[in-house]
Amino acid sequence: MSPPGEPGPPPGTVLVSGGASGIGAACVRRLAPAADATVIADTDRARARELAAELAAAGLRTTALPLDVRDPDAVTALYRLLAATHPPVGTLVNCAGISGPRRPVGQYDPEDFDAVVRTNLLGTFHMMRGALPGMRTRGRGVVVNIASVAGARAVRGYGAYVAAKHGVIGLTRTAAREYAEYGVRVVSVSPGHIATPMLEALPPGTTRRLTGETPAGRLGHPGEVAELVAFLSSERARYITGSDHPVDGGWLG
Ligand code: NAI
Repeated sequence: MSPPGEPGPPPGTVLVSGGASGIGAACVRRLAPAADATVIADTDRARARELAAELAAAGLRTTALPLDVRDPDAVTALYRLLAATHPPVGTLVNCAGISGPRRPVGQYDPEDFDAVVRTNLLGTFHMMRGALPGMRTRGRGVVVNIASVAGARAVRGYGAYVAAKHGVIGLTRTAAREYAEYGVRVVSVSPGHIATPMLEALPPGTTRRLTGETPAGRLGHPGEVAELVAFLSSERARYITGSDHPVDGGWLG
């Protein structure tokens, strides 16, 4: 919850794609107490429901909706449903993402490449496309896109992910320029190596290697990313737009 007296997110609904797990779930937990309503949109219906039920039991209006961000029609249908059932979306946090397999560019399977770009980049675009017109009309709103340190640096074996995350940062910067005059902010957050199911799914030994590469000497916690998202989505960050914000234990250095 925001400390007393400190401004929270813009009024309305907080919509979190990929909100059922890891960083997205931490953002849901961090933002829900100050939100009018919170929506967890995720392909993992069971985990989304479980988290929504937990927060609803604490008296917070939280809804889980199944969504595949790769599907533009499904995203349009989600926004249509929200328009009929929820306060307007004031905050959109795009967390849905996959890392894809580890392989050099010359050996990357085109289908795998397509899946990574569709989820991380096109999915983010679909979600922004649904939220921005309403935010523009209302003259306020914040979009926080979860990019990655892979959006600033090359990571061997993850060409599709690196390309998609560079794209997310470019899309963020462009939308920020387009919507700033309407009172809408668009920023990205670039986590380093954060202890989530995505990281745990990487090949054995990866976690130890990544910890060794991180100046802080440990992996980050999802809550440490959510803390930055809470600040950026609040009025306290009202002059911040178009920028990328690493939270990486010094990895980018
Ligand atoms: P995670 O695997 O714990 O959570 C990702 C969530 O996205 C899951 O709930 C999954 O069901 C959902 N999702 C995947 N594909 C989807 C789709 N097509 N439509 C809707 N939902 C979908 O992963 P984590 O680590 O929390 O990742 C969240 C975001 O943070 C991702 O964009 C990831 O690229 C980014 N990130 C993660 C880092 C890490 O070290 N964990 C580092 C840098 C960035």
